Amino acid sequence: MLNVGFVGWRGMVGSVLMSRMDECGDWAGISPQFYTTSNVGGRSPQHTFDAGVDPGPLLDAFAPEALAQCDVVISCQGSDYTNAVHPKLRAAGWKGYWIDASSALRMNSDSILTLDPINLDVVVSGMQRGIKDYCGSNCTVSLMLMGLGGLFKEDMVEWMTTMTYQAASGAGAKHMEELAAQMAALGATAEPVLNDADSNAIDVDTAVRERMQSADFPTEQFQVPLAGSLIPWIDKAMESGETKEEWKGFAEGNKILGRHQPVPIDGQCVRIGAMRCHAQAVTVKLREAYALEELEEVISNAHEWVDFVENTPDASIHRLTPAAVTGTLQIAVGRVRKLRMGPEYLTAFTVGDQLLWGAEIG
Ligand code: HSE
Repeated sequence: MLNVGFVGWRGMVGSVLMSRMDECGDWAGISPQFYTTSNVGGRSPQHTFDAGVDPGPLLDAFAPEALAQCDVVISCQGSDYTNAVHPKLRAAGWKGYWIDASSALRMNSDSILTLDPINLDVVVSGMQRGIKDYCGSNCTVSLMLMGLGGLFKEDMVEWMTTMTYQAASGAGAKHMEELAAQMAALGATAEPVLNDADSNAIDVDTAVRERMQSADFPTEQFQVPLAGSLIPWIDKAMESGETKEEWKGFAEGNKILGRHQPVPIDGQCVRIGAMRCHAQAVTVKLREAYALEELEEVISNAHEWVDFVENTPDASIHRLTPAAVTGTLQIAVGRVRKLRMGPEYLTAFTVGDQLLWGAEIG
């Protein structure tokens, strides 16, 4: 049986992984061990393990000798942890597979970014070449490729811009809670005004605006209001003027695809008041003026998770939104049409649940 160690299984990303493993029967055939950074000797979580499998007490996640007994380590703990532990484990000669949800190892030349519906060939070839570090990639990039990967697979894309609408969950659990707290604060302020038969929309707006701009509005995580607003900056500043989130679109996108000749991918990343679904509007410069029907087919047939939404008002507002997609594995892709710039220009809109598809942690 494969010895598989789990680190960071209690956090938001780790918890989603645990539930998916329960749902998919993924504990079969593995002997799990659970690691902790704070509660060595504590009780391991109980899941649907094979008969007779007992993970025993929690082990020390900072002890290389405790991790070295694993064939595979899966870490959802974050970059600081990976940077502290992974080099020591490798230096001690450990040859197991390290699978990581953080960004720490992503751009190393000896790591592979995994998004198997899109790049199974890259993953398999990495394994055949003896690569041992596999990283989940940035969720925005993953969701863009999950939606439009077919166009890249067929090498139809000359360049792409993505304008994102990213959910609070991408910033972390506390940020999701703060978004809900902001909504609650605005709702509580608006309610009496809405219930006042003599008030109008401007009165509601005034009450909401004053509450949003008040000193005690909950903004500890985001620093500014997100509910009723948006934030046009995600992650650190790069010297180029991009945010790091925007830079990842190009760097990680091309690495996922295993491209030696990178496709330019760039755009603007914006946080909006959705809870856990990232959306993005893309503009694609195609290599040729492919027929729209061919493009739709390539997008729809890329893999089993694409939900192709016809470009109609009814389908778009009911199936192509965070509210419709949240909690599902479907990657909705719609609003697909040629742009008036010319027959080589395509636009599309895509939405996916970032906690289920590739949430990253620090
Ligand atoms: N960095 C992304 C965001 C999270 O802030 O939305 C991707 O999982």
